[in-house]
Amino acid sequence: MTDLAEVHLSSTIMTELKERTRQLHQDTETAVDLVSRLRSRESYANLLARFYGLYAPLEQRLVDIAGWESIGIDLTERAKAPLIPNDLAVLGWSSSRLAQIPGCHSLPKLTNLAEGLGCLYVLEGSTLGAQHIRLAVENQLGLTADHGCSFFNGYGSERTGAMWRAFGASTMAYHESHPESTDEIVTAACDTFAQVKEWVACRQV
Ligand code: HEM
Repeated sequence: MTDLAEVHLSSTIMTELKERTRQLHQDTETAVDLVSRLRSRESYANLLARFYGLYAPLEQRLVDIAGWESIGIDLTERAKAPLIPNDLAVLGWSSSRLAQIPGCHSLPKLTNLAEGLGCLYVLEGSTLGAQHIRLAVENQLGLTADHGCSFFNGYGSERTGAMWRAFGASTMAYHESHPESTDEIVTAACDTFAQVKEWVACRQV
C-alpha cells in the first residue's frame, strides 16, 4: 500500500502533529482491539456504535466553529458520522436501537479554528488506518463498502490520499499564517486522541 500520509514536507505542523500524537495513536489502536472487535458482526456493530457516539457530537462541535470555508475545508464533504447509521441498519439495528446509542458529553475544548484543526487532524487521519480496517472487515465479516462498512471505507481507497493531502495543505497554510497557534492545534489533537482512546475502549452500547 502506498504511504497515504505522505505530505512531502518536513518540519511542518503536520509532522509535529504526527510526532506528538504517536504514542496516543498506538494506545488508540490497542483500545480499538480490532482482533476481538472483528470476531463477530455484533461486536463490530458495537464498535461502530461507539464511534458514532463520539464522532456525531464532535463533528457537530466542529461545524459550530466559524471560518472553515476561509481555509478551504468543507466539513459537509468530510462528515463521517452520518455513514454509521446505514452500516448499523445493514447489521440489523432498528431505528429505536440506533436512537439509544449513548453520546459522549466530555468533548475536548473546541472554540476556534486552531483547535478545530487539531481535532480534525485526528478524525481525518483516522481515514488512513480505516483503509486497513475496511480490508479486515471485508475479509473477516464479509461486509463491503456499500454493505455494512461505509464508515471505515470513508472516502474510499481512491480519494483518501487526496483528501488527506488537501487537509494537510489547508492546515499548513493556516499554521504558516498563524504560527502562534501551534500549541492550540497540538493540544486539541492530543485531547481528541485521548478522548477517542478512552471512549472506544469502553464496550458499553
Ligand atoms: C485498529 C485501529 C487502527 C489502525 C490499525 C490504524 C492504522 C493506521 C495506519 C497504518 C496509519 C498510516 C496510514 C498510511 O500512512 O498509509 C494511520 C494513520 C493515522 N491514524 Fe490510525 N489506525 C487505527 C485507528 C485510528 C483511530 C481510531 C484514529 C483516530 C480516531 C486514528 C488516527 C490516525 C491518524 C491521525 C493518522 C495520521 C498520522 C499522520 O500521518 O500524521 N487511527 N493509522
